[in-house]
Amino acid sequence: MAAMMSRGAALAVAVGIGAAITASGALASDPMPKNASAATKAAYARHENFEKLGKTFKVLNDELKKSDPDKAVIAAATKTMVGLATALPGWFPRGSGVQARPMSEAKAEIWTDAAGFSAASSAMQVQVSKLNQAALSGDIAAVKAQVRPTGGTCKGCHDKYRVEKKS
Ligand code: HEC
Repeated sequence: MAAMMSRGAALAVAVGIGAAITASGALASDPMPKNASAATKAAYARHENFEKLGKTFKVLNDELKKSDPDKAVIAAATKTMVGLATALPGWFPRGSGVQARPMSEAKAEIWTDAAGFSAASSAMQVQVSKLNQAALSGDIAAVKAQVRPTGGTCKGCHDKYRVEKKS
């Protein structure tokens, strides 16, 4: 398994994203209950949005590993990431933590330390925006150089505001 891991996946693991992607396996065994409250719906929607973010970042990393990366694929991925990064602060309405979805990995600190969480969101928006600028310029080397700072902001937030993977 590990031997078959692509270099893109290996990089994703290096920046702490592989574990997050693996967590998505929980979805199949964790369907949204019927008559879910607004907060519960938000928690499930957030889960899907983060999965999309993780998958998109992986698509980007995999493309960058190719001998002749497709600039259109890269630009589409970074554009999607900008949209998700911009929307992220809205995925956390108060009350949408574990009380709304037991499988949620959202820590209470997201709401008790709202300023810190907001700073972590902003940090990612800044790096993802730079990533997108690099992609738009068509400079593959610049995109590659921007992957690690971007991944660092994912990890920075996860380390503080996300609990270890639940199973
Ligand atoms: C500002 C904080 C923050 C940033 C920045 C952030 N995340 Fe997350 N991420 C979270 C939190 C909190 C959760 C747990 C959400 C939950 O379980 O309710 C999470 C969960 C995830 C998951 C697991 C999906 C799930 O719900 O099981 C993936 C995948 C993920 N993030 C990828 C990323 C990637 C890739 C980046 C950077 C491009 C990123 N995240 C940036 C806070 C953040």
